[in-house]
Amino acid sequence: MFEDTKIDEIIKSMTMEEKINFVVGVGVLGIEGNPKPKVKGAAGETSEIPRLGIPRTVLADGPAGLRIDPERENDEYKYHATAFPVETMLASTWNREILKKVGEAMGEEVREYGVDILLAPAINIHRNPLGGRNFEYYSEDPVLTGEMAASFVEGVQSQGVGACIKHFVANEQETNRMTIDTIVSERALREIYLKPFEIAIKKAKPWTVMSSYNKLNGYYTSQNKWLLMKVLRDEWQFDGFVMTDWFAGDNAAKQLMSGNDLIMPGKSFQVVPHLRPKDERDDIREALEKGELTEEVIDERIRNILRILFKTPAFKGYKYSNKPNLEKHAKVSYEAGCEGVVLLKNDDVLPISKDTKFALFGTGQVETIRGGTGSGETHPMYTVNFLDGVLERGLSVDQELAKLYREKIEEFRSGDYKVTRGSWGEEIKPKLPENFIQESQLEEIAKRNEVAVVIITRISGEGYDRKAEKGDYYLSDDEFELLKSVSEIFRKHNKKVIVVLNIGSPIEVESWKNLCDGILLVWQPGQEAGRILADVLTGDVNPSGKLPTTFPKDYNDVPSRSFPGEPRDNPTVIVYDEGIYVGYRYYDTFRVEPSYEFGFGLSYTTFEYSNLSIKRVGSKFVVEFDIKNTGNRSGKEVAQLYVRAPIVKIDKPYQELKAFEKTKLLEPGEVQHIIIELFASDLASFDGNSWIVEEGEYEFRIGASSRDIRLIGKIKI
Ligand code: BGC
Repeated sequence: MFEDTKIDEIIKSMTMEEKINFVVGVGVLGIEGNPKPKVKGAAGETSEIPRLGIPRTVLADGPAGLRIDPERENDEYKYHATAFPVETMLASTWNREILKKVGEAMGEEVREYGVDILLAPAINIHRNPLGGRNFEYYSEDPVLTGEMAASFVEGVQSQGVGACIKHFVANEQETNRMTIDTIVSERALREIYLKPFEIAIKKAKPWTVMSSYNKLNGYYTSQNKWLLMKVLRDEWQFDGFVMTDWFAGDNAAKQLMSGNDLIMPGKSFQVVPHLRPKDERDDIREALEKGELTEEVIDERIRNILRILFKTPAFKGYKYSNKPNLEKHAKVSYEAGCEGVVLLKNDDVLPISKDTKFALFGTGQVETIRGGTGSGETHPMYTVNFLDGVLERGLSVDQELAKLYREKIEEFRSGDYKVTRGSWGEEIKPKLPENFIQESQLEEIAKRNEVAVVIITRISGEGYDRKAEKGDYYLSDDEFELLKSVSEIFRKHNKKVIVVLNIGSPIEVESWKNLCDGILLVWQPGQEAGRILADVLTGDVNPSGKLPTTFPKDYNDVPSRSFPGEPRDNPTVIVYDEGIYVGYRYYDTFRVEPSYEFGFGLSYTTFEYSNLSIKRVGSKFVVEFDIKNTGNRSGKEVAQLYVRAPIVKIDKPYQELKAFEKTKLLEPGEVQHIIIELFASDLASFDGNSWIVEEGEYEFRIGASSRDIRLIGKIKI
């Protein structure tokens, strides 16, 4: 209350010009006379009013680690931040505690490097496997996404800095992202795309929300009153502030009137004059003069912003150290990565022992992908590549072959495959040839090793979508040829083949998965990549990740065929015409078999589910069961609760994830009793007007994956 009075006083003391300035960021830092960044490499800053004691506050990306520049002019010191696994990998952990830990670690780096608000987590949905930023998003499922986001936000904000859930909403592609109009039914919007935001806001109270670039049913989301006022504030009681995505929308006055509090980064005309020719402040002045925008609206926006900014380290005059605990956070990054590895296939090949001789193939052993590009890029002190990781852990990797790879990669990169820099300053690395080992050499390698490990890498990033082509969604010809010849020759010698997928989003696996005996999905695991791979290969770490997104058999199987919109060559509109049938909701309902289903992931041990009981306590359902480790290694299991609704009035997907719980590390023979609580309201569908729970018999399905259901109970409603 004291703060509200104080804020009112501040607003009363502000001149109109100060008010107009305050709702617009300072502009891209360091260009065209804009202020120099307080923290180099941060994405933006809010405006200051020194005479009223309002400092500039700092906003920086992003989901896989704090994105600031490690180097500063005339400064020897390095400002590195930890690179954590990408969000899709974090979601593969299905572990709320890990997400919270990662959030805490990132939050500490945010605070100690002088940043106030972290522009993460990103919680759009994996609508289509080609979404260029899918790696920055958690899952195809709204509940998993929302739960992961809530825990991450709690972690970040426990450090006294803010989180920002983005991009609100229906921003599931990069193609023409700044202008595309997403057409989506209210049901799909509410059940699939808004749901994660709703969960994160209600559970974790993020300080800020970032509206997205795209239009939603005709209006830019940053200029959409229904979205920002009715849904976000009235229905969900969001009490932080909303900022635009960088340069988004086309009219600042409309943004303010629609409930978008802060316009970022400010002065868009300096950077994207074709999209926003006018200074945002002129838009605002004009609208005020015409009487379209009132001072009260601006005051309300300022109130929303100040209420949050009062809590920031900048306002509190916090003396940051520039010395976050990177050593501790490296361990958190490693731990999160280990839990996010998904074992997709294992025909008696994994784990290997420390002295199993193995040959590592693929240029990704040296050029390991720690994460994607764009604002989700990171600048850690180091990245342990796969080769160095297995060497550091003392595994018996074929040194001669490793030497050949090192030399070849150097030769390629200094010749026809030089690295250049993109518009984000990121490295652009032309894809290297993969199939350069002679058959006779392969024979020798197969003779002297027990196992082949073949690494396949992919990278994608902000600003473009992936392609359903060879070299991207499909293996390139030379990747396929490498795998095929390694497979033929190793198998001829009775040796086994493991494929390691170092990717940010699904690729096609169906056509080649029989060429290998094991598949480890290590995603883009951050700076500790090599250590994570080494420890999972040997079983020091038992994989416990489960897929947060389906691996379809073929791109032609995906339900979002409209991606990336119409007209095809330069889309202006994208219709989400699959409605709620996104991911497994589609594959299960329409009986399309994927290569690996949502929720799938093997372990080096086995688990048994038993003793299901479902009780109704008031408006709650209490679901209880036991999980026993029935194998001979310790391991963790992710139990997933899917609900199959009766088909009464509204059409329903075959089943939907409603809850999940990961066990602790269970020793062989150990049992854990799991208790999951669910509310009747969790079973509701949106019928076009409101949420309703239809009467009838509901099936509660407890599974180790969406297609490996172990226990079923029924409940009448
Ligand atoms: C991205 C946001 C990011 C912002 C600031 C935009 O291009 O879409 O996710 O937070 O830039 O870097």
